[in-house]
Amino acid sequence: MKTTSNSSLLFILLLVIFSCSWAVSSHEHDDFLQCLSLQSNNHSSISNIVYTPKNSSYLSILNFSIQNLRFESVSTPKPLVIITPVHESQIQPVIYCAKENGMQIRVRSGGHDYEGLSYTSQVPFVIIDLVNLREIKVDVDKKTAWIQAGARLGELYYRIAEKSRTLGFPAGVCPTVGAGGHISGGGYGALIRKYGLAADHVIDARIIDVNGRILDRSSMGEDLFWAIRGGGGASFGVILAWKLELVDVPEKVTVFAIARTLEQNATNIVHRWQYVAN
Ligand SMILES: Cc1cc2nc3c(=O)[nH]c(=O)nc-3n(C[C@H](O)[C@H](O)[C@H](O)COP(=O)(O)OP(=O)(O)OC[C@H]3O[C@@H](n4cnc5c(N)ncnc54)[C@H](O)[C@@H]3O)c2cc1C
Ligand SMILES: *[C@@H]1O[C@H](CO)[C@@H](O)[C@H](O)[C@H]1NC(C)=O
Ligand SMILES: *[C@@H]1O[C@H](CO)[C@@H](O)[C@H](O)[C@H]1NC(C)=O
Ligand SMILES: *[C@@H]1O[C@H](CO)[C@@H](O)[C@H](O)[C@H]1NC(C)=O
Ligand SMILES: *[C@@H]1O[C@H](CO)[C@@H](O)[C@H](O)[C@H]1NC(C)=O
Repeated sequence: MKTTSNSSLLFILLLVIFSCSWAVSSHEHDDFLQCLSLQSNNHSSISNIVYTPKNSSYLSILNFSIQNLRFESVSTPKPLVIITPVHESQIQPVIYCAKENGMQIRVRSGGHDYEGLSYTSQVPFVIIDLVNLREIKVDVDKKTAWIQAGARLGELYYRIAEKSRTLGFPAGVCPTVGAGGHISGGGYGALIRKYGLAADHVIDARIIDVNGRILDRSSMGEDLFWAIRGGGGASFGVILAWKLELVDVPEKVTVFAIARTLEQNATNIVHRWQYVAN
């Protein structure tokens, strides 16, 4: 008897919690948008970058950079709002209003996260998609580049190659991977044996913290600057841009592929390769 009443109490409790969370999330959505328009000093510019499920382009904006198609399914939890800022200053109101309304923020650069962490969540959330923040400025004389977090690796390689045949950057091999997620998580590719990880070649960064402050290396301090070079950007804020140190590469590079099975001494070949790869 006692057990039954306990479990029915638990059931009622669960029901209450469940229905509350639904009620909250539909309110949050409107309150969030209202907050956003109050916080933004340019209303016309905000309306061009805000997507809710009511906008006809919502699904195509959400889907376009999803790499793990498992999370493109109808049953994957979807954002209440997607924001595609065209300027850094449009991100601060999103952070403020998401906090005000108890919503989580997912930051997406290239969308290549294997677990879909940049575009899905079990609690009400908003996506800040950096697809429009992908400027790349290469300084050949100083051998550096500033790149916005939404830039893709292929775009970075292309912009460097446009200006120099003897500079490169040691990052991943997949051209559509985004700089935001890739470099904040380490980033390895064909140049790793000579130059290490992409994160090893970051010399400055711009990040927005949880209080909406825009910080660079000197104002964020060396601890945070260390953490965002391998610890994953989303744990610490929104990475806006990286300053990269470019590396020297030969003017001509030969690329070839050889297929060998274990029976054909593949083990020996891989062993030898490690001594010449760099
Ligand atoms: C096809 C494919 C090929 C790959 N090839 C390589 C490779 O050659 N070498 C290699 O090292 N890795 C490779 N990866 C892994 C890839 O580097 C990671 O998945 C990386 O996190 C993707 O970054 P993204 O910006 O594209 O992803 P996203 O999905 O946008 O983000 C990944 C994570 O970083 C967070 N994040 C993204 N942008 C920001 C930001 N601006 N500020 C704060 N947090 C942010 C997201 O919230 C999420 O948690 C590959 C992945 C795929 C799918
Ligand atoms: C507001 O944003 C629009 C669209 O991005 C832009 O054309 C306009 O110049 C902006 N106005 C101000 C005052 O910044
Ligand atoms: C989405 O719909 C709202 C409401 O109709 C509109 O104000 C907004 O401009 C739309 N967003 C985009 C990016 O077109
Ligand atoms: C996006 O993905 C959804 C599933 O979540 C699917 O139903 C829809 O057809 C896709 N839309 C576009 C425009 O790709
Ligand atoms: C594999 O390597 C061994 C020792 O280096 C050599 O004797 C042998 O001929 C090789 N086999 C093949 C199939 O190349």
